[in-house]
Amino acid sequence: MNASQPSTERRIAADTLQTYVRAIWEHAGSAPREAQLVADHLVMSNLSGHDSHGVGMIPRYTASLGDGQLKLNTHAEIVRDAGAVLTVDGRKGFGQVVAYEAMEFGIERAKKLGVAAVGLRNAHHIGRIGHWAEQCAKAGLVSFHFVNVAGDPLVAPFGGIDRRFGTNPFCAAYPRDGKNPLVLDFATAGIAYGKTRVAYNKGVKVAPGMLLDHDGKPTVEPKVMHEQPFGSLTAMGLHKGSGLAALCEIFGGALSGGYTTHESTLEKSNAIINCMTSVILDPNSFDAPAAQAEAEAFLEWMKASPRAEGADAIYAPGEPEEARRADRGAHGVPIDATTWRQIRESAVKSGMTESEIDGFANALQ
Ligand SMILES: NC(=O)c1ccc[n+]([C@@H]2O[C@H](COP(=O)([O-])OP(=O)(O)OC[C@H]3O[C@@H](n4cnc5c(N)ncnc54)[C@H](O)[C@@H]3O)[C@@H](O)[C@H]2O)c1
Repeated sequence: MNASQPSTERRIAADTLQTYVRAIWEHAGSAPREAQLVADHLVMSNLSGHDSHGVGMIPRYTASLGDGQLKLNTHAEIVRDAGAVLTVDGRKGFGQVVAYEAMEFGIERAKKLGVAAVGLRNAHHIGRIGHWAEQCAKAGLVSFHFVNVAGDPLVAPFGGIDRRFGTNPFCAAYPRDGKNPLVLDFATAGIAYGKTRVAYNKGVKVAPGMLLDHDGKPTVEPKVMHEQPFGSLTAMGLHKGSGLAALCEIFGGALSGGYTTHESTLEKSNAIINCMTSVILDPNSFDAPAAQAEAEAFLEWMKASPRAEGADAIYAPGEPEEARRADRGAHGVPIDATTWRQIRESAVKSGMTESEIDGFANALQ
């Protein structure tokens, strides 16, 4: 791959892309429901503008399957039921399946008890965390999610110069009457690792302040994350982001009965293992009949701030993703040529024939 050259992009209709992704996983051995959940999740990440967690992940998942790490057709198992607290083992199943199932367990319990905590451990990559918060919000529930990327350090702690923890995402969502939920969902690194892959594949640089090279010096070259000698991502928000990442590591990895990142847990394979502790709340269990009105009054007040120079709008959490869904839903999902070629290679590995792939490729022109 020549990642130093900018690559061309094509736009692909979301439903066609979904059909292709479903076919890849069905050929690889996934049951139809699994293939559907994976396709829904990946394409929704692209639609939301998070290409880092979209269909570009397929080659990594294929490699993990080849390593024997990703376990197809594996379901979430409740290993301890303590009423409001559930501990769930993902057994290295597709994160798109086991996180979905873990949230279903938590939603059912939170509706019954007003609150539930779910510790999900040993899940294969669970992708865009906002997807799980949106699942809770669709059921009318508030949620907070703390996630670690177990044994896969990429980020330097504040004050350090080498990789000590993952891009450990945090997410929180608040459902709104008759409107899309507020969804705050971010990597605690300055940028998600996948965004360095997208930049590397496109042959472009990243913003200053996001990367350190192998000597700990600041750089804007995404290759330091993809070619040896490897550098690191920086944590977002200086000491505050670094601290939030540390607590995502411990809440996600330790409290769920999974594991945190240290010398003896370093991942040697292509697998990305996530552990996630989620707290799910039923807003109707609070004595707060005006909660929706208060939230809306605040959002209106916040958005009335005069615009800073260069700012096109003041967004509530989740609004940038809604805007991208509207645009990409209408005009298709952009995929760069390198990523497209890598997905094709995965389709071949999954057992699709060249002519089957060409059939999709022609439909996708
Ligand atoms: N599974 C994993 O191991 C893993 C690891 C890291 C990240 N991720 C996922 O990667 C995705 C991307 O993370 P990221 O850190 O690059 O996201 P990001 O930097 O794009 O931030 C996204 C969040 O900020 C809000 N936002 C964006 N622009 C805004 C603006 N101008 N004004 C107000 N709010 C704004 C969005 O609504 C969203 O809540 C997330 O979905 C995250 O869950 C997953």
